Amino acid sequence: MKIVETPDSAYAHINGWRCEGFKVGLVPTMGALHAGHLSLVERSRSECDYTAVSIFVNPTQFGPHEDFSKYPRTLEDDLRQLSNLDVDLVFAPQNTSLYPDGFSCFVGTPKVAQPLEGIHRHDHFAGVTTIVLKLMNIMPANVAYFGMKDYQQLAVIRRMVEDLNVPIQVAGCPTVRESDGLAMSSRNRYLSPEGRQKALCLSKALNFAADAIASGQTAVSEIEASMQKLLVENGADSIDYARIVDPDWLTDISTITGPVVALIAAHVEKTRLIDNRVIELEN
Ligand code: PAF
Repeated sequence: MKIVETPDSAYAHINGWRCEGFKVGLVPTMGALHAGHLSLVERSRSECDYTAVSIFVNPTQFGPHEDFSKYPRTLEDDLRQLSNLDVDLVFAPQNTSLYPDGFSCFVGTPKVAQPLEGIHRHDHFAGVTTIVLKLMNIMPANVAYFGMKDYQQLAVIRRMVEDLNVPIQVAGCPTVRESDGLAMSSRNRYLSPEGRQKALCLSKALNFAADAIASGQTAVSEIEASMQKLLVENGADSIDYARIVDPDWLTDISTITGPVVALIAAHVEKTRLIDNRVIELEN
């Protein structure tokens, strides 16, 4: 497994493989790898000739009062896990090589970035589109793999790639969960054992929404109100949103007539957690 720090070196490797006609997969990460990330790597390994992973805690996607400085940085352990999976290349740059002095150009965000996270994490998606486009330029792979746990992020990236004609295919991969339903997240490691139990309130509320819709409830506001109640009763300290929206555009809907996505962002202890569930109507 090659480990490189400079954009030029990452580009040279990937461009070289592409010129030889090989299919290359890219898995962008912020490190602190868990089974969710590893499932993206495994998917890339199964579909591509070469798999490259980036590890970079991107400062521009964190708000001033968010967890950038305490975000877990576990490079040695990450590299060990990636090497065990036979990853071909890891790009682990320093901050200054991606954001040198004088950096000032940000990628805009599509409409789908506006609701939900867009309301609660102002400028977050401009940081995401900027770093993801940079990584796609530095690592010109055939396919880039992202987890569906960051459902809105995936929608934003898909739109950016389409709108800006970025020559890469975007693959969304299912959320990986612990056996009790908790979605895997690098931020789960902030939780105390008690908080870890409380964090199950997110998957419980999503399952509740799916059951309510399966049993024929169609009034979105009523289901959302019950989700909020369930979140608070089961350990959420505060809720940024618990919404049911259109699965493609994340726009509001009032009555359920087709597939939807339920999305939650809630704080447990001091940790902000997100989760979602796509809900299809049963025939
Ligand atoms: O999902 C993440 O880990 C990050 O938002 C990403 C896509 C690697 C960009 O920094």
